[in-house]
Amino acid sequence: MTPSVLNAKSNAPPEIPSGWIEYWNQDQFWTSSELWEINARIFFNRFKAVVALQPEDEVLTVGCGTGHLESLLAPHVKSLHALDTSPRFVEMCKKNCRASANVTVRQIEGDYTDFDFCKKNFTLFLFVSVVQYYRNIREIENMIQNAKRIARPGARLLIADIPLSRNPWQSFGDALRSILLGLREGYLYKLFKEGVLENYFSGGDYRTFGKTAKTLIFSEKELAALIRRLNLNATIVPESLTMNAGRPGLLVSF
Ligand SMILES: C[S@@+](CC[C@H](N)C(=O)[O-])C[C@H]1O[C@@H](n2cnc3c(N)ncnc32)[C@H](O)[C@@H]1O
Repeated sequence: MTPSVLNAKSNAPPEIPSGWIEYWNQDQFWTSSELWEINARIFFNRFKAVVALQPEDEVLTVGCGTGHLESLLAPHVKSLHALDTSPRFVEMCKKNCRASANVTVRQIEGDYTDFDFCKKNFTLFLFVSVVQYYRNIREIENMIQNAKRIARPGARLLIADIPLSRNPWQSFGDALRSILLGLREGYLYKLFKEGVLENYFSGGDYRTFGKTAKTLIFSEKELAALIRRLNLNATIVPESLTMNAGRPGLLVSF
């Protein structure tokens, strides 16, 4: 069994070794990376049309990281709750959003699929580059059902940057398209320096850690099966909304 691959058909979903929470809690490469800021800008420019962002939106972002997306988003929405499991990133997000009075940043403790400790009536939920660190697909199902309980009718939930299982040719195509985007947007050097030299070829901490604590990887079939199992009003957003080509999104309407 490949622990990183979800199998929606099996009764007992494969568990990946836990540990990502621990990884994100420590002082690591990403806390000082400029790539996340660039990624936040790319996502912000792309996702607005997909979710039809409204000034009256009350937003919950989960896995806020450094908070660059939240600081871009805050002036365009009524309120924003940002959550992360890592105290380090909670502090960074607070710092980045200190000028926005409508932003609340909190740490998720315990069950990270349960958001009942937040206020109710959210109209928009954003999960950007985070569900791949969940342990299995059941947790994603729980998360969607728990989000629904605190959602206003008609609220949207977007899971973005979903890693798909890829053959070598597809991976090559994704890498090429990511590089072309970097070239077009003027961050190719940073992508090469941070993403390739510092993090990949140097055996960076993310890569080393990822050898044991695999991230979840999805197939399109599994996403479709998840939509069916939960009877969701949902669509797969085929184009990537982040700097990572070949990573679709899942848009749910409650
Ligand atoms: C790859 S970063 C993405 C950060 C941000 N969303 C972005 O796109 O720049 C993943 C973030 O999710 C947080 N995280 C990891 N697992 C989580 C979980 N189960 N629930 C909430 N946050 C989590 C990490 O601490 C980290 O800040």
